[in-house]
Amino acid sequence: MFAQTAASTPISSDLPARTVVVAPGDGIGPEITDAVLAVLRAADPALVFHPVSVGLQAYNAGAMSGFGPEVMEAIIEHGVMLKGPITTPQGGGYKSVNVSLRKTLGLYANLRPCVAYPSFVATRHPAMDLVIVRENEEDTYAGIEHRQSDEVYQCLKLITRPGCERIVRYAFEYARAHNRSKVTCMTKDNIMKLTDGLFHKVFDEIALDYPDIVNEHMIIDIGTAKMAVQPERFEVVVTANLYGDILSDVAAEIAGSIGLAPSSNIGRDCAMFEAVHGSAPDIAGQNIANPSGLLLSAVMMLVHMGRSAPASAIHNAWLRTLEDGFHTADIHGEGRSRASVGTREFAAAVIERLGLLPQQLPVVDYPEREPDTLVHPDSAVVARTPATKVLVGVDVFLNWNGEARAPEVLGAQLEPVAGPEFRLAMITNRGVKVYPHGLPQTLCTDHWRCRFPAAGEAVVTPYAIAALLTRLADAGLDAVKTENLYTFDGERGYSQAQGE
Ligand code: NAI
Repeated sequence: MFAQTAASTPISSDLPARTVVVAPGDGIGPEITDAVLAVLRAADPALVFHPVSVGLQAYNAGAMSGFGPEVMEAIIEHGVMLKGPITTPQGGGYKSVNVSLRKTLGLYANLRPCVAYPSFVATRHPAMDLVIVRENEEDTYAGIEHRQSDEVYQCLKLITRPGCERIVRYAFEYARAHNRSKVTCMTKDNIMKLTDGLFHKVFDEIALDYPDIVNEHMIIDIGTAKMAVQPERFEVVVTANLYGDILSDVAAEIAGSIGLAPSSNIGRDCAMFEAVHGSAPDIAGQNIANPSGLLLSAVMMLVHMGRSAPASAIHNAWLRTLEDGFHTADIHGEGRSRASVGTREFAAAVIERLGLLPQQLPVVDYPEREPDTLVHPDSAVVARTPATKVLVGVDVFLNWNGEARAPEVLGAQLEPVAGPEFRLAMITNRGVKVYPHGLPQTLCTDHWRCRFPAAGEAVVTPYAIAALLTRLADAGLDAVKTENLYTFDGERGYSQAQGE
């Protein structure tokens, strides 16, 4: 992640003016943003801040998505945004502003460096220095959810080939640009063979283009366990959205504190920088939050903008502040800390140290470079000939609460309505085959997936599926959803049932 070499770079005052969009956010957001802007003003006086409102404040002012159109316009115009954390209602209310911003702006790569600062911040993993490259737009975070019956709710997990190609290539490009020697991919493709299977397959394909970088794959559960006890064995980890979200909180916390971890959300045209942590409502307004996560995000932002001198100066002053024992409450410890300081005082201590270097932790020296020079892999996404797609059947999901929820009763009702185009191959409940030959031990809900492949040589058409749905409705059955069954170049494009 951060280039750590032995030279220092003075603060430069001859940088051109550049505007940064700033959204303070909710909870501790405004206080940590104030602290970070104070440091930025001191280290890079040519920066101009364009304030916008996102989150609860914007929502309460009538922006139902948590931000107004002026926010998008500002980010697109200026290219970079520094964002405080935002409170997201749980279980209901408006959708996550973070997810909406990331997806609307095409910020496909979420980089989350997690580094230990041994002797100064308590950690069991002094050699930890890894970066998680989290896919930022797809997966269950597409947020496509439906309630389909009294008992059953579903969330669609969408994984796409272009999405996998660009995040995986980004991870390898990042590794190469930052002298990292290994990229680890984590998925759960032993269970989700199609979606996670695609992520893993694309990883294996793209790894061939980077023979200079070691590649490995781990199942996400054991990978997370290994990271929790041996994080120093990882360098760059690339993974899907939900796994990356969880993994990066684990990594940030074991590195020392969730309050220290920065992140960047990178797209082709713009980028957003924010701490990994949330709005911490439990400590909001008390001047005790650690502004370091947002400050290090601002450092990543400066590097992204090609302003390496102030980036190095802030990072080194921050390391020196840690060394000098000025610690916020979350990282304060007897013997390590000289003073337990508040948010504002911590920022003031960093400002006082601008121009100084750390004496024990490695000095940071970001190389001079053009803004955002990392190759954006979009253009490298391979143009492919589409596979030959053949419709071979349909899965019909029924909301059925009939006689004792007995699968044989439902099966007997479905067999005669399946033909002439289809046959009933099986019924599953929560993915487990219950007909024919189910077991009484399997818990059955009111949601049944009924698989109808083509009968004999019959050709399956959308009209045949519509006719089947009509026959099901005529039989008094409640079809709540269908999934077409296709083959692609002769290969099944759908999963088998458990027990099939
Ligand atoms: P959280 O990260 O806000 O807090 C978890 C724990 O860490 C709390 O005990 C908190 O006091 C502490 N903590 C967090 N940041 C800290 C800091 N800078 N200094 C010292 N201690 C800190 O996670 P939580 O409580 O699950 O979420 C609160 C809200 O934040 C929710 O509405 C959630 O949706 C939102 N959230 C927003 C994110 C964003 O805007 N990027 C990311 C994660 C959560």
